[in-house]
Amino acid sequence: MNIAIAGTGYVGLVTGICLAQLNCAVVTCVDIDETKVAQMKLGKPPIYEDGLEELMKKNYELGKIDYTTDYKSAYKNADVIIIAVGTPERSDGSANLDYIKAVINQIAKNIEKDCLVVTKSTVPIGTNDKIESYIKENLVNKVRVEVASNPEFLSQGSAIKDTLNASRIIIGTESKWAEDILKLVYKPFNQPIISTNRKSAEMIKYASNNFLALKIAYMNDIANFCELVGANIEDVAIGMSYDERIGDKFLKAGIGYGGSCFPKDTRALHCLASEFCYELKTVKAAIEVNEYQKLKLIRKASEKIEQFENMKVAILGLTFKPGTDDMRHAPSISNINSLIERGANIFAYDPVGIENAKKIFEDKINYTMSIDEAISEAEVCFIMTEWEDIVNYDIKKYKKLMKKPIIYDGRNCYEVSKMKNLDIEYYSIGR
Ligand code: UDX
Repeated sequence: MNIAIAGTGYVGLVTGICLAQLNCAVVTCVDIDETKVAQMKLGKPPIYEDGLEELMKKNYELGKIDYTTDYKSAYKNADVIIIAVGTPERSDGSANLDYIKAVINQIAKNIEKDCLVVTKSTVPIGTNDKIESYIKENLVNKVRVEVASNPEFLSQGSAIKDTLNASRIIIGTESKWAEDILKLVYKPFNQPIISTNRKSAEMIKYASNNFLALKIAYMNDIANFCELVGANIEDVAIGMSYDERIGDKFLKAGIGYGGSCFPKDTRALHCLASEFCYELKTVKAAIEVNEYQKLKLIRKASEKIEQFENMKVAILGLTFKPGTDDMRHAPSISNINSLIERGANIFAYDPVGIENAKKIFEDKINYTMSIDEAISEAEVCFIMTEWEDIVNYDIKKYKKLMKKPIIYDGRNCYEVSKMKNLDIEYYSIGR
């Protein structure tokens, strides 16, 4: 089987590599960016992802995967085309489907044999019906073509592992022909396959992401209340987690969720519901709580610190979570912007996010290669991401290196009692 994949972002590239690795098909990854394609042929991943580089090199050398800008021949020879291009957020919160439109136009013009088009991109419910109609109406060659919805659930930082050991594979189709093809593609994965119709598959993706976002927002809300009543959110989360109906994942309070999915998907679902004159009140609450939570540390710090003008401020962690260089919707962004506005002299450290951070903050802040350098002589330190080297940092050094050891920790990296014993002024979330 020949599979072409449109788009080599997280979803497209990781899906392609995993399909090649498990011998599901010969995979051709299509991207419009020539430099990116040339780099990928050399085995260089365009994103930071554990294990990706090794699998790219191996599968490329074995001829199981290729990269090209030549969409015409890739689509002409494909039995299955997977659409994995981005669906970024428009200013009103709705999903921008321009990349999808460009790809389906190319598909309609170039396919020459029966072909199943599979949408992995997260798209509003009902979009796959429209994609199928569009392709059928604009087909140049008379072939059988159908569209299936096949959302993915990979997390950045563990994308390969999440794909190879997927908790479930969702297949949304309108015919047995399409269902059988997708089942065949995913047979080597040996994971539970849930077959449903296209709209339900589209909804499963949004409902799952929104539920997880809600779970985090709920814990952050409760964490804020814990602070007021004197309870400890970490103990509360552990106590809750023993109930199997609640589970032990996504109960970590902090300074809110970021990334390419939760902020976008919550707003997109809320926006879609309003088009149907329905208000998703729970999702709206999650969006509001998350926005409020992002600047929680700055609000807390402002109660103690009157002004930040010319103050050396250390920022530890920039990316939206550890294990990725992705800065999209990272809570660090609004915090740093707020500190820049207040005239702070910021020294930021992140093990892999510096290059992407430079694109956002340019020379408005200083970038450091180590935690030591960031905190030396700093008057206050904000922790934005729980990178391992930050969590495992020798806390005595805060006392030794900082001008004043004051820490605002947005990810609860350290034990409160240990900081207290060292006489470090330490503020965290919900405890
Ligand atoms: C998420 C979903 O997990 C994944 O299934 C979907 O396909 C894409 O969106 P991702 O954005 O990569 O994946 O990251 P995830 O690990 O889910 O974390 C998202 C955000 O939530 C991060 O900012 C993280 O710091 C935050 N988070 C996560 C919490 O604040 N608390 C938690 O308990 C878990």
